Amino acid sequence: MALLFPMNLAKFASFLITLFVILVAGDCIRVICRISPCPTTNPPLPIETVFQLPSSLPIWPSGTGFATASVSLGDLRVSEATEFDVVWRTRSGGPDNLGATFFEPSTVDIAQGYAVLGYHSQPNNKRFSGRSVVAYDDLNGNIKAPVDYISVWNSLSFEIDQDGIGYIWSPKCPDGYKALGHVVTNSTQKPSPDKIRCVKAELTEKCEHYKWIWGAKGFNVYTTRPSNRGTQAMGVHLGSFVAQVGGVMSDIACLKNTKSDLSAMPTLDQLKPLIEAYAPWVFFHSDEYYLPATPGWFFENGGLLYKKGDEANPVAIKSDGSNLPQGGSDDGAYWMDMPPDSAARDKVKRGNLLVAKAYVHVKPMFGATFTDIVIWMYYPFNGPATIKFKIFNIKFSRLGEHTGDWEHVTLRVNNFNGELQSIYLSEHSGGIWVDATDIEFQDRNKPAVYASKHGHAFYPKPGLVLDGSGGIGLRNDCEKADLYLDTGFYYTLVSAEYLGTAIVEPPWINYSREWGPRAAIYVQDEIDRILKKIPIFLRGLFKKLFFHNLPIKVLEEEGPTSIKTKSSWYGDEI
Ligand SMILES: *[C@@H]1O[C@H](CO)[C@@H](O)[C@H](O)[C@H]1NC(C)=O
Ligand SMILES: *[C@@H]1O[C@H](CO)[C@@H](O)[C@H](O)[C@H]1NC(C)=O
Repeated sequence: MALLFPMNLAKFASFLITLFVILVAGDCIRVICRISPCPTTNPPLPIETVFQLPSSLPIWPSGTGFATASVSLGDLRVSEATEFDVVWRTRSGGPDNLGATFFEPSTVDIAQGYAVLGYHSQPNNKRFSGRSVVAYDDLNGNIKAPVDYISVWNSLSFEIDQDGIGYIWSPKCPDGYKALGHVVTNSTQKPSPDKIRCVKAELTEKCEHYKWIWGAKGFNVYTTRPSNRGTQAMGVHLGSFVAQVGGVMSDIACLKNTKSDLSAMPTLDQLKPLIEAYAPWVFFHSDEYYLPATPGWFFENGGLLYKKGDEANPVAIKSDGSNLPQGGSDDGAYWMDMPPDSAARDKVKRGNLLVAKAYVHVKPMFGATFTDIVIWMYYPFNGPATIKFKIFNIKFSRLGEHTGDWEHVTLRVNNFNGELQSIYLSEHSGGIWVDATDIEFQDRNKPAVYASKHGHAFYPKPGLVLDGSGGIGLRNDCEKADLYLDTGFYYTLVSAEYLGTAIVEPPWINYSREWGPRAAIYVQDEIDRILKKIPIFLRGLFKKLFFHNLPIKVLEEEGPTSIKTKSSWYGDEI
């Protein structure tokens, strides 16, 4: 007993010391950090590394304005800053709670005569890949210095982990001019008027906030993008950010390509090396039964065209699709189906990787400051789904299947420098954007993308993704197997409207009805089949969970309509 007491006392003392270190000393370090530059105890953040594509870019054949560092927007010539100085950094909050960094486009780097339109900000959880559009001042009054600055927010009274104090300003523009971004400083002093320029209102377009960059107690910053996006929309986004204080969003405009100038788009000669540089390797699951093919292969192997009211007399489709009805709407008047003979059906369902290739559609985006290269893949058949139900896997026999499946990957290329900026992956009825910083590269600058087993939804990484909740969901299984297609080698360019008549679209693109019959809905059949195998007392619970946790709509997809009728053909993705 006598021995025990001193030991407890020692433990208690060490506990007190630990508590002191955590509560008091920790705060002291923080206080010191706010006064002088922080000691280098902070581990390096991802943002402190500059992202670069794994390989150097090819030398593009000469063309008009593609990858020439500057772009004509009709009345204004713009370029991109490539060097940035850190103005202020927070070390917590924002995506992954790693904070964000605010950058000033470096004036030493901005070519003679170009002016900053907005500062840049990025979350710290990714490598730096900043861009910031700068405008050439031709002294014709298209751009003007602000008359004053309005203080939007500062971090002085905020107990946050930060390097210095950040001050966010909005330029007060002369009448008839608009602000396209904010200025950030690390001192209370108002920025000098030559830090930023306002742009004539007629040369701007409506902008909206997009991705969240950072926020603290009623203050948030977001990236911006034009509200109106698509091949005909001419809004240009700048890589600047917009601040929101107490629910009020600052008034920040986007630029506009006023004369629909397409000179920065790649020429036909430039498209081939561009597609070869960035088209993905598509990996299929080693157990994939329903592989891709081509529309021509499907037609040659017995694909049939049905006409409503004359269902008994389907017609064979010519291998180039030239006897398919052209144009019109998806009115149910026609549809395609597999051959009725079961051996022929099985052959068609399997597809054929040896003949498979990608079909490429190229289109301008963001007022032709970006090129979207859309890589389409065709599968004659989409296989049935598998559901994960806690530790059990339930394979459906019909649910989820449909004839004809079109999936796509969109490569978004920056027309100032020819670099791949992001890719979009189609997933069931939606999809996701993946930044270049998060792409897994396979061969030089080609992204690796993974097609899920049976459903062919695209994912940026191999493995299992569950669509659902609570351990119950639709399985999307992806694998890096020996089954893959290098779409930069096996492809045909089928459409690029901006090049006029240079590319003739195959007739099957202009067929606007469904590539498979309207599917019967098998949900009830499948449920009944599964319920028979489950003990009676569990059936109620199963039904409840099944309908509550599963994306049933995804399983009811029908044969898809033509790729040209998808909203992304003329519009932005999603
Ligand atoms: C303050 O901002 C300027 C750029 O405006 C930058 O050069 C400087 O390094 C910043 N100071 C600190 C302590 O981050
Ligand atoms: C597509 O079909 C429509 C309607 O028949 C027609 O006007 C158009 O020229 C066709 N386009 C092509 C590329 O064949």
